[in-house]
Amino acid sequence: MLKGVVLAGGTGSRLYPLTKITNKHLLPVYNKPMIYYPIETLVNAGIRDIMIVTGGKNSGDFLRLLANGKEFGLEHINYTYQEGEGGIAEALGLAEHFADNNGLCVILGDNIIEGNIRAAADDFRAQGMGAKLLLREVEDAERFGVAEIRDGRIVGIEEKPRRPKSNYAVTGIYFYDHTVFEKIRQIHRSNRGELEITDVNNLYIAEGHMTYDFVEGWWTDAGTFDSLRRATNLVAETGANNKRVGTRSGAALDNVLEKAGA
Ligand code: G1P
Repeated sequence: MLKGVVLAGGTGSRLYPLTKITNKHLLPVYNKPMIYYPIETLVNAGIRDIMIVTGGKNSGDFLRLLANGKEFGLEHINYTYQEGEGGIAEALGLAEHFADNNGLCVILGDNIIEGNIRAAADDFRAQGMGAKLLLREVEDAERFGVAEIRDGRIVGIEEKPRRPKSNYAVTGIYFYDHTVFEKIRQIHRSNRGELEITDVNNLYIAEGHMTYDFVEGWWTDAGTFDSLRRATNLVAETGANNKRVGTRSGAALDNVLEKAGA
């Protein structure tokens, strides 16, 4: 079974003072609170078992807002609490008990897409192991994790590189098998004091178990004033989570293993 995790912790310092009295993921993006969009993305991919990882002073507001997820057609939502600011990988580590050896689709609470990830989720279910990333070509790659692709294979990811090796941003939508938790235990804190998801992804790449697809339609995060405005405009203009806009396949596991000479 594929379960879903929405990461919605952090202090949202880049959006201060909007985040002085609330969590970033509860801020409005056009006509809905930000976190509605990633939850809908998971639900549209057929994922019904969802955990929200949050933190900070306003975590109780998530429960008040989302309750058991009736608005999304869910019967139940799971919640957990991240102490402090340890980064995306640390937040994901808190979902180990919930994951219970199942595959996971992990989405950052500020990532919003025009389309749906159903095809990518189905491909990952069929892949049955390893990890899959969703990439999107962007003009400002230095803001993101950036994938270097050689011979159709991701050979490495750099987190916010000054000189990006490609225009392929690693979006905040990831698929992982249960070994993700061992990998999180292997990595060390970065210069910004966080456990970086990019380090986890590079461990999958080193194992030769990383596949990727491309997001079609627009993708945006919403963690800065500019991207929050962009997200609001995009949602207002075209709507998000459109069931007719999908993903395009990149490399599948067979192809990755073959290229790695395995
Ligand atoms: C995070 C990840 C980065 C990814 C981005 C997508 O960055 O570290 O690799 O490309 O999300 O939104 P952050 O927004 O936390 O700086």
